[in-house]
Amino acid sequence: MRKLAAGNWKMNGTAAALDEVRSLLAAHPAAGCEMLLCPPATLVAGMAAVAKGSALAVGGQDCHPKASGAHTGDISALMLKDAGASHVILGHSERRADHGETDALVRAKAEATLAAGLVAVVCIGETEAERDAGQTLAVIGGQLDGSLPAGATAANLVIAYEPVWAIGTGRTPTLAEIAEVHAFLRNRLRGLIGDAADGVRLLYGGSVKPSNAAEIFAVPHVDGALVGGASLKAADFGAIVAALSA
Ligand code: 13P
Repeated sequence: MRKLAAGNWKMNGTAAALDEVRSLLAAHPAAGCEMLLCPPATLVAGMAAVAKGSALAVGGQDCHPKASGAHTGDISALMLKDAGASHVILGHSERRADHGETDALVRAKAEATLAAGLVAVVCIGETEAERDAGQTLAVIGGQLDGSLPAGATAANLVIAYEPVWAIGTGRTPTLAEIAEVHAFLRNRLRGLIGDAADGVRLLYGGSVKPSNAAEIFAVPHVDGALVGGASLKAADFGAIVAALSA
């Protein structure tokens, strides 16, 4: 299995930020892992042009479940593909919170992503209150069951475990807590899609940075990271790529 260093730029970046991508590719022309950056939709085509012929894949951060239609302000997986994307992040906790996205909607979007021939990066994770209440595995197990697209394979599905309380806070679970969740997810996924589960990349996300990347990547069943803030700077994301390639 090739490990995956993925970056989520969220609502950050204008055309000038593509210089960071040029710097990243100059420093890591042939990384020992897969690299993916998911910029705002406005930058997908521009980033894809910069990444053309390189080891960097480009993705969207959301899509509509339909391929086209009267849905003002939305974009479809087909449109992201047309702009040069190969992946789409679905069900990020910020979308679940800001836009009330349910597991069923996330699944529909993920199925649209697969139908367009793109890879779905499905995000799940518990809130701090849920962890404190001892509900972590029940919550993420339910999210996995409910969000998993039909037809998922090791080639078209990536799962990102992102504890909501670790996103943008500088706080991370202990390595033992990450290990517990990732082993649980692998097992749950086996029950859902059988042996294909062993090839699905399970990413950890939430305050990943150069200083903690190596220890997190050493945790069993951690097959890469989904990086927010630290993916905006070529030097930081490059250091995380290097840690994953080691
Ligand atoms: P941070 O790395 O900024 O904590 O964000 C993680 C995240 O939400 C990636 O999708």
